[in-house]
Amino acid sequence: MMTLINGHQVAYTDEGKGPPLVFVHGFPLNRSCWSKQVECFKSRNRVIALDLPGFGASEAERGPATMNHFAEGIFTLCQYLQTGPIVLVGHSMGGYIALAFAQAYPVFLRGLVLVGTRAGRDEPEVASARRMRARAVQQAGIGSVVTDMAPKMLSAINTDLDMARQVRDTMASSSSEGVVSALLGMADRPDRRAQLASIQVPTLVVAGADDTLIPMRESVDMAETIPEARLVVIPKAGHLVAYEQPGPFNEALASWLDSSPRGRQIFPLVRQDSQLRTVPEGVTP
Ligand code: MLT
Repeated sequence: MMTLINGHQVAYTDEGKGPPLVFVHGFPLNRSCWSKQVECFKSRNRVIALDLPGFGASEAERGPATMNHFAEGIFTLCQYLQTGPIVLVGHSMGGYIALAFAQAYPVFLRGLVLVGTRAGRDEPEVASARRMRARAVQQAGIGSVVTDMAPKMLSAINTDLDMARQVRDTMASSSSEGVVSALLGMADRPDRRAQLASIQVPTLVVAGADDTLIPMRESVDMAETIPEARLVVIPKAGHLVAYEQPGPFNEALASWLDSSPRGRQIFPLVRQDSQLRTVPEGVTP
């Protein structure tokens, strides 16, 4: 489906009935990364997944896309769809956007799911590398971004060549304008670590055990600082956790949605043979 937001076409999926779950993809991906979550949760939730401007089928906007601007677009879409308060699920850049959303629209949140993401800003050298990359994309297209990032999306032990090709194709379908805007927006994003302690909604932090882009310490710190947070580490998952390991990811999300967490939680052992691993409070995996 499509609608106009800020004068630009935005593509989204809206399926199922029930408490609304809104999924926000990472960089440089699109909503197809959440297809296994849409299928799984649409029998119990209203499931919305959007293509951020410049990604998938959504039209690009010009200029740096700040995380606040992306968050405002999601809020506008939710108002248009009359969702009421949502559980917001953000992967990586989608997590930066989810934290911006949590700060701007706290009463519009029922819960937060932060997947393979971090609250800190870019170190200066990382921010300047992003700006250089944005210039390179303006001149030569997004090929270098795909070549650099695609191998880092999945676990190093993943031998599924079809999956690797799908990830690469998804990235390659992003527009240069969208990639440039998002690179500049990520380079300028603020440090949100000080905001974490004031997040008032139950939060699930999900990390891929084999993620080489987001250090595990970042996920542990977020889960320890957000008052009502639970941390789940998914084995055999790289950066693109929910796409690479949809079964364990969906199980963790469903269990958290069912548990109405209150206070700091230690994730309960689901089954002895479960792929889910528990992370007791205070222990670094
Ligand atoms: C993402 O997956 O969204 C990116 O890795 C985020 C980033 O480059 O910081």
